[in-house]
Parts: sequence; structure tokens; C-alpha cells
Amino acid sequence: MDRYLVGFNINDIPYEHYDVIIIGSGIAGVYTALQTDKNVKVAVITKETLDISNSVLAQGGIAVSLDKDDSPECHFKDTIYAGAGLCNEETVWALVSEAAENIDILCRYGVNFDRAENNKLALSREGAHSKNRIVHTGDATGKEVCDTLIHALLKHENVKIYERTFAIDIIAENRKCIGLLTFMEDLNGFKLFLSESVVCASGGYGQLYYNTTNPPVATGDGIALAYRAGLRLMDLEFIQFHPTVLCHPENRSFLISEAVRGEGAVLLNAKGERFMPSYHPMAELAPRDVVSRAIFQEIQKTRSSHVFLDISHKDREYVENRFPTIYRTCMQYGIDITKDKIPVAPAAHYSMGGIMTDAYGRTGIDGFYACGEAACNGIHGANRLASNSLLEGLVFGRRIAIEVSNRVLNGTKHKTVAPELLNVEKVSSEPLENVNVLKLKLRKLMTEKVGIVRDEENLQEAMKRVLEMKQEISGKAYTTIEQWEFVNMLTLAELVIKSALMRKESRGAHYRSDYPQTDDINFKVNTII
Ligand code: SIN
Repeated sequence: MDRYLVGFNINDIPYEHYDVIIIGSGIAGVYTALQTDKNVKVAVITKETLDISNSVLAQGGIAVSLDKDDSPECHFKDTIYAGAGLCNEETVWALVSEAAENIDILCRYGVNFDRAENNKLALSREGAHSKNRIVHTGDATGKEVCDTLIHALLKHENVKIYERTFAIDIIAENRKCIGLLTFMEDLNGFKLFLSESVVCASGGYGQLYYNTTNPPVATGDGIALAYRAGLRLMDLEFIQFHPTVLCHPENRSFLISEAVRGEGAVLLNAKGERFMPSYHPMAELAPRDVVSRAIFQEIQKTRSSHVFLDISHKDREYVENRFPTIYRTCMQYGIDITKDKIPVAPAAHYSMGGIMTDAYGRTGIDGFYACGEAACNGIHGANRLASNSLLEGLVFGRRIAIEVSNRVLNGTKHKTVAPELLNVEKVSSEPLENVNVLKLKLRKLMTEKVGIVRDEENLQEAMKRVLEMKQEISGKAYTTIEQWEFVNMLTLAELVIKSALMRKESRGAHYRSDYPQTDDINFKVNTII
């Protein structure tokens, strides 16, 4: 694999200096920028516009132990249980013990969470939580949080936003970060951001799959660029499939929040039978991997494309008010959720794996940090507990913001001068064509062969076809964002398959029909470099 995605001569590229560069404008990126000291000069780089991210689409909410019967210890236990033996206890404890202070900060920014009658934050339930602890804004929590934070960020004079700017590769020397090479659509050219601190909050890689709740931007670019820079990736085999995604001929990506099950919705198979109680004692509120696999099996058993989610027994007005987005969206497809059963099937939703970091977002390159879905610090283990992901962006984004601010303000930075001799040659006259066709082919392959249930034969076949695709594009010129995204996706597909082949057991979201047991003796975290 080449160290750089593109050919360039560093001396030909316009550059600018910043104290901190943040890649990504989801909750992790925006919150890190907001929490960075106002005397620190920050650039936020985002591939599309500021308001496009996976975080914006989050429906359920943010997990935090606020109830008098709840505690960070209890949230810790639930997170560890869902993570199926692979969580890192240090980072999980950071997550749950710092949750309340970060929710408080969100409230001070003006996030309008739903309130109970006593004006305390309303708390709902989601899968594998033993208490009600999800703060939410109807069924559009991600949008409310992101809109509020973006609004606040736009008032920060120390932060400059660069939209339609694609992060290509980091520049580092002697394992120290120097900056980031980008492509700016508005300039139609490269731009170099020189900085001692780069924070990668660029999101996950749900777009590796054909059916996904993720927006088209989720192509794992930040994770792939970290890998090219020689950084270690971790837990890539664990892809979370959300159990209940609308399954309608015109829409296979709209999430039906787990909070709907939290409010009492039941799952029925194509014959109208409730099945979850026979799979897990927590029934519809079992961990997500368990529910997705159960649905997968019911779909196969009944030779259907979907199962049904039914909340029609609840009061109509309550359902309309509690889930206005879901109600309105389903109505567009002729489904009245207050009386009709909703056709649903699992779809790729969240990448547990990513750039390996410690509890402060640090990586193997000094000054290069990662947080949010792009990072992996072991809080999710083999299966993420519902509504821990926005929380992850907050807790670890803030930790990074404090660290990079201290570095800058205490003057411990290293020099950020572009290396004079960096000239990367890539000579090819043959353009890479039909990249959207290739993307689709890859996404179908991953869905078919590297989905909810895996085995050696299918994984080997997937690997063979990914390597063929790599061969097919090798030596060609990649010059557009779509082409760079595809190369990044192909890199990650190969690494996901490699990790899935390495894990010869079933654990959390990684289920192997040829190794159905959990191997509690030889198991370990998979890392790839
Ligand atoms: C949901 O609302 O079901 C999604 C929440 C999450 O992914 O944690």
C-alpha cells in the first residue's frame, strides 16, 4: 500500500498554520472545537457542509445515569455486559463517570432535551440498559444537539470552518504530526494545513455496506489515512447492525429508533408471531447484536425480507408526540405507526473499530488524536451499548480539547514546518473510471459475505474479490473525491475481512457460523498495523 493517496510536491501547495486541525463536523469534531481554549487557533475541516454527519441522524439519545436509582457503576456494568468481554475498563469508566458533566455542558449551550413533569431531564430506556437513562429530544436528538453546538461554534472567533474540504493524508516526521494534506473543492486544488495537533473525528465506515443507516459521507476516510500513516487500527471486525431499519422498497436506510422498543414495541415475524422472548431474557431489549441476529434468523426461517415492529397498542397521541420524525417519515410510505406494523430489517449502523487510542485520544503519532466513531479506545468492545456513541464523542472530545489546549498554551509544541523535500510521484495516465459502479459492487459484496453471519468460505471469497478490485485499480490515476473515497473503502474492506478471518469465534457483533461458540480462553483484541 502506498503511503500517500495522491502524488504531490509539497512546495507547490498553498499552506496555512493552525494550532489545531479537526477533521469532521459530527458531534465529536464540533464539541472538541467548542471545548478547545478560545486562545487556540482551530480549523475544522469537513468533507461536505457542517451540518452533514452521522451524528445528526442519531435518534435515540445520550446515555447518562441521572436517576436516583441509577449510578455510573450501573451504566459501567451494562456497557461491559453489552461489549461481550472486550471492553477496556479504564475507558468505559471515563465514559460513564464523565457523562453527567458533559450533559450539563450541553444544557448550558442550550440543547433542549425533553423534560419530565418535575422539569428534570426525561429518561427513556433502550436495549441492554438496566435503567431508564437516555436523555433525548423526541426522536431527533442528534439533530437538536448538532444544531445547537454548530450554532455555538459559529460564534467562536478562534475557529475557522472549511467545508467541502477532503482530508487526504497526514504529514508526520519522526512520529510527530506536522499537518494535514487536503483537497478543497472551492479551490479545486490541494491545501496544506500545518499544525502540531490534528484531531481525527471523521466518523465510521457504514458505507462499506449496501444497507446502512449512515449517510454517504461515512466512507472511513480518516481511519484509512491513519492506517497509511502507520497507525494501529483495532476491533475492525465488529460492525454493529441496527436491528430495526425501515424495510420499504423506496427506503432501506431510515432508522426506527431502539427507543420505540424502549417504549414497549414488540417484534413479530412474517407469521405474526412474537419471537424475541425465545432468544433472550431481555426480549426486544436484549443487546443489539442479539436482536439483529434473531431477526436475521426469523427472516431466513420465514423466507421474508423483513420482520415487523409493532407499537400500535400504545396511545396514538403519545406515539405521535414521542416519535414525530418516525411517525411522519413512515407516513410518507403509507405506514401509520399508530395502527400499522412497521416492516424492519437490520442494516449496518455503527463501526465499533477504528484508530486505536488511549483514554485521552492519543495515537502512535505525537499530536495526532482520534475520537468519536473514527476512534477505538475499547469502550464498545464487541458490541456498543445503545446511546453510548454520542456520549463517546462528548467525553473523549472534551478530554482531547483540554490536552491540545494545554499543549498549545504551555508552549510544548514542536515545529510545524513543511518538510522541504516531500515530493510524492504518481505517474499514471489511465484514469480510474466507473468508480460509483465499483463502490456499489463492494458494498453488495460486504453485505453478502461479511454481514451479520460470517464463515470462512464467504470471508475468503470476499477477500479474493477485494484483492481483485485492488488489482483492477492499481496503477490508475485517482484524482476525484469519489475515487479517493473508494480507495479508502477498499482499504478498510480488506482490513475488516482480515480481522473477521482472524477472529475464529463468535463474540458480540461478530458471529461466525463455523465457530458459533465464544472462546473465553484464547480471545483477545484484534489490532492491525
Ligand atoms: C437508536 O435510536 O436506536 C440509535 C441510537 C444509537 O445508535 O445508539
